[in-house]
Amino acid sequence: MWRPKERIKWKADVARWPSSAEAAASRLFSPIQLGPVTAQHRTWVPAMVPWRATGVGFVTPVVLDWYSRFARGKPGVLVVEATGVRDVPSGPLLRINDDRFISGLKGLVRAVHEASDGETKLFIQIIDFLGIRRRPDPEKFFARFLKITDRHRQALEMPDALEGDIRTRLAAFDDAALANVLTAEELEALRYGYRERVTDAHLPQIADLPKTLPEAFASAARRAKEVGFDGVELHYAHAYTIASFLSATNTRSDGYGGTRENRVRLPLKVYRAVRDAVGSDFAVGARFLADECISGGNDVDDAAWFGTAFAAAGMDFLSLSRGGKFDDALQPAVGWAAYPYTGPSGYECMPQYISDAQGPFGRNFAAAKTVRAAVRASGFEVPVIVSGGVHGFDQAENVLATETADVVALARQSLADPDWFTKVLSGAGAAVRICEYTNYCEALDQKHKQVTCKLWDRIDLEEPDILKSADGKRRLSAP
Ligand SMILES: Cc1cc2nc3c(=O)[nH]c(=O)nc-3n(C[C@H](O)[C@H](O)[C@H](O)COP(=O)(O)O)c2cc1C
Ligand code: SF4
Repeated sequence: MWRPKERIKWKADVARWPSSAEAAASRLFSPIQLGPVTAQHRTWVPAMVPWRATGVGFVTPVVLDWYSRFARGKPGVLVVEATGVRDVPSGPLLRINDDRFISGLKGLVRAVHEASDGETKLFIQIIDFLGIRRRPDPEKFFARFLKITDRHRQALEMPDALEGDIRTRLAAFDDAALANVLTAEELEALRYGYRERVTDAHLPQIADLPKTLPEAFASAARRAKEVGFDGVELHYAHAYTIASFLSATNTRSDGYGGTRENRVRLPLKVYRAVRDAVGSDFAVGARFLADECISGGNDVDDAAWFGTAFAAAGMDFLSLSRGGKFDDALQPAVGWAAYPYTGPSGYECMPQYISDAQGPFGRNFAAAKTVRAAVRASGFEVPVIVSGGVHGFDQAENVLATETADVVALARQSLADPDWFTKVLSGAGAAVRICEYTNYCEALDQKHKQVTCKLWDRIDLEEPDILKSADGKRRLSAP
């Protein structure tokens, strides 16, 4: 993972925890209305992919165990991982694109409501993503994957050469020579692995996204409601399809790219289709970026503008993340796919303890405050959720006191200790296992391995009934 060059080491120390009386009287542990849903507290576990579904997206016993464990800590809202709305193979990530997934997801809803005694509201994040391939072995790329065209023949001044000769010649070139012969897309396919973009409008399936996605999201949301979730979070963040439509880098010329008004058209169309499908008695909100943190991408002014548009359209909550783009991702090893959390924007999404003078805690707060203020200035009261390095009570309470956001999300801290919420509320904050922000968990995610936390995944491994990773070396949920 990329890290700031300053390499300053930060420690997540919490100097003070509240008594149970102070916690009970706090803003953080007061209720909040999210459209039709009342969350008991302003605490939130945002979506985290744990790589525990079956290879084709069904709920498994370890998925139930993972979410029940979070639910036992009783956060106000728990958001289930990014769950696919289209029939795209994506490894062990949950899917909700077909009725065959309903029964498993019903079990998940039941398990969470039971484990939290009905106190935690359960949302599901629904996502669409475009195709991405692994970085190819150069030999195979030149022998098979690269489509040889007249452009190559001309560039090589081999107008009548056989395809095989062109391939052999290209395979012998060094990087600098290849840069003169291959297009930017071909070079990217060689160096990073081929990746579809929303701007590839020459591909029919990409050109048609404005027609296909509203219904895909709407039917997924309809299923989520049928299953018993309390709401859906539309994934409009990071490196995925809708975020790419919102991005200032979206130059589509079909009315869905270019200006902000055009870039927000599909996200709004998706939202309206979802709202029509689920009605007003089901919470619908979006997670989007307070800043894309890439050159030429959206900044906080764009985010404020989009947040206001989403609020005006009637969304029930706005959850703000940051960065996490493919545009500046590091080159993957041969045989691996690019991962959008490896570059500077990825760092902004999940900042690590090795940081710069600003540090890893609360990097999204200033932008969130700006977005929230713009939404309020336009007359909308929709709650705003912020995440990023939150681990302490005072820190979370301060987010609310300073009107930075209305709900505070803790991702890695909840993974390190899912009981953060009950411990703090009962005056036992000193017993919290504090996240070290090493990103061991995120490295597992990058390798598509079952996500665990280094602070607990070796504890009491010999105890009976403990669910373990495939190699038996790690426990799968917090002790
Ligand atoms: C293992 C892991 C998986 C994640 N998966 C998702 C996801 O499915 N959807 C999403 O919007 N964010 C995802 N995130 C980002 C988190 O929700 C959160 O925005 C980020 O970790 C910053 O918050 P934190 O500092 O409290 O961890 C993931 C983070 C981690 C560590
Ligand atoms: S592995 Fe645990 S301690 Fe390290 S960043 Fe992840 S949640 Fe925090």
